[in-house]
Amino acid sequence: MSDFLSAYSIQNWLESCPQGYLENTTFGHLADEQEPELILSSPILREETIRATVQLVLGERCALAASSGLINAAPDEGSKRFLATQTLDEARHVEIFTQRLYDLGVRKNQLEDVLKQYANPNLIKFAEVLLEKVDKKDFIAGVVGQNIVLEGMAFSVFEMMYALSQGMNPKFAHTLSGTIADERRHVGFGENRIGSLIKEHPEKKAEVEKLQKDMAYHMLATFAEAFRNSPAQQEFQQLGAQARERGIQAEWNGVELREMPPEEMEQILAETVLKEFKVRLGRIGLEYQTPSRP
Ligand SMILES: [Fe+2]
Ligand SMILES: [Fe+2]
Repeated sequence: MSDFLSAYSIQNWLESCPQGYLENTTFGHLADEQEPELILSSPILREETIRATVQLVLGERCALAASSGLINAAPDEGSKRFLATQTLDEARHVEIFTQRLYDLGVRKNQLEDVLKQYANPNLIKFAEVLLEKVDKKDFIAGVVGQNIVLEGMAFSVFEMMYALSQGMNPKFAHTLSGTIADERRHVGFGENRIGSLIKEHPEKKAEVEKLQKDMAYHMLATFAEAFRNSPAQQEFQQLGAQARERGIQAEWNGVELREMPPEEMEQILAETVLKEFKVRLGRIGLEYQTPSRP
């Protein structure tokens, strides 16, 4: 437990995060980095970038509600303090992605309407399943739902977006890299803390496995909606071709994403996330449940 405490202490968080990789950043990136003119000047690319960013804000709002809600459900002081650092991380993620919406031209007084207009309904359901457990102060289900399922998903989505942004949008790539480092810490906590609790409470297994299956279903539906209804498909493919000509690659997990058809991207993302779930759940003594395909 002492190793666990020092790895996830506030002191460690201060040194590695605010005084480490976030030092000298402004809303997660360098002060002089901006969204590329290419996105800002094209109505369709700008709108699709806003739509994608809206999902990030909504996902992070869910993580903020879950991590703060779990503090008072945590059975030990070390977990409470870690979740306090996570709460600040998630609030920061909400803030930096909201700031990106402003950078893309969303007016502050339109924010809530824009979030409602572009929200992926499957992502809302995904969040509801998790927050229901948090509201009941169910620590084990809440941490598995948040730190394994939600953040496992976020981690892979951010990594894929990072691969696509690198070279094309250094500002957003920079914003993502700090977020990815945070998520890695959150996922690590989930695995480390929950394994022993599952062992102490084997009667919780079936319920938590069902939660994972339900959340995974809504996640796959979220991906399906996001990739299959992309009105800017042609524009993004053109951008990809231009980038390729300039020698800018977007390699992720050994595959080149640039110019890949959206249905193939959806498949690779879904496979990657589900594979990670399986491995992580196995490590904490849970059996992965395959969701039906939406
Ligand atoms: Fe987050
Ligand atoms: Fe997180």
